[in-house]
Amino acid sequence: MFQKMFGWIVMGCILLTGQGVAMSQSNQKAATIVVLLGPPGAGKGTHATAMSEHLSLPHISTGDLFRENIRNNTVLGQNVKSFMNQGKLVPDELVLDMLFQRMEAPDCARGCILDGFPRTVAQAQALDAKLSKNTRIIALNFNVPDSVLIERITGRLVCKDCKKPFHKRFDPPRQANVCDTCGGTLVTREDDQESIVRKRLEVYHEESQPLIEYYAKKNDSLREVDSQNPKEQVFRDILLALSTLKTKESL
Ligand code: AP5
Repeated sequence: MFQKMFGWIVMGCILLTGQGVAMSQSNQKAATIVVLLGPPGAGKGTHATAMSEHLSLPHISTGDLFRENIRNNTVLGQNVKSFMNQGKLVPDELVLDMLFQRMEAPDCARGCILDGFPRTVAQAQALDAKLSKNTRIIALNFNVPDSVLIERITGRLVCKDCKKPFHKRFDPPRQANVCDTCGGTLVTREDDQESIVRKRLEVYHEESQPLIEYYAKKNDSLREVDSQNPKEQVFRDILLALSTLKTKESL
């Protein structure tokens, strides 16, 4: 009993004093990585910005990083475009370097919110190997049945500038095709056509769903959220699921 209580006290101290570099093996300070799991259209991007603000951790979306590279016509962008437009996963060697380089930036010292990574157990293992011992991973799994996802994705509009997602029916912008937040133009993602969405869902079930079990087996890592509920309720449930983590106010 005493040992268990001592363990809780130590864990609490780590969380309260945590402000370190997540990526460095040699750095022993604590950091938190929040991993967003769930199928395409589950609501990861919708809630990531508000979570980022609430926890004061940067939001990193591997999909957004790839789309930025495609828009800028970089070599990486040229290499990943055909995978994305077929609804397939980008090969690990193109994902890992890009992501780990981003995570070395100073704004990730206390950790970050990863949206769209890891996508496979191999990627999760690569992440584990890269993190310092004191970095805690919380995986938040957004649950939504496939039947709901097709309508969500095929009706999605995304801001070209700040990347905020909207929905033609469920979450329309105040002014047609204009982002409520930054005034940017709303566009449809190239991979949001129904045939590609069906392929992405197939790939999700085959390659990404095993991550739920992977994180369930890690001590106190997995949190579930029913993302079929209205957006506002989903966000309340997310905050509840993350209530053990430090917030902006408690920093
Ligand atoms: P990525 O950009 O990561 O796409 P995804 O994972 O397929 O997820 P989505 O962005 O489609 O969905 P979301 O969960 O963010 O949903 P959203 O919040 O927008 O990846 C794209 C591609 O890049 C991959 O296919 C792959 O090729 C490549 N890639 C990326 N990372 C990779 C990796 N690590 N390894 C290999 N390849 C990688 O919501 C969707 C819609 O629903 C919106 O319109 C929203 O308004 C609406 N909505 C949200 N919540 C609700 C609600 N509660 N009620 C009603 N409507 C809602």
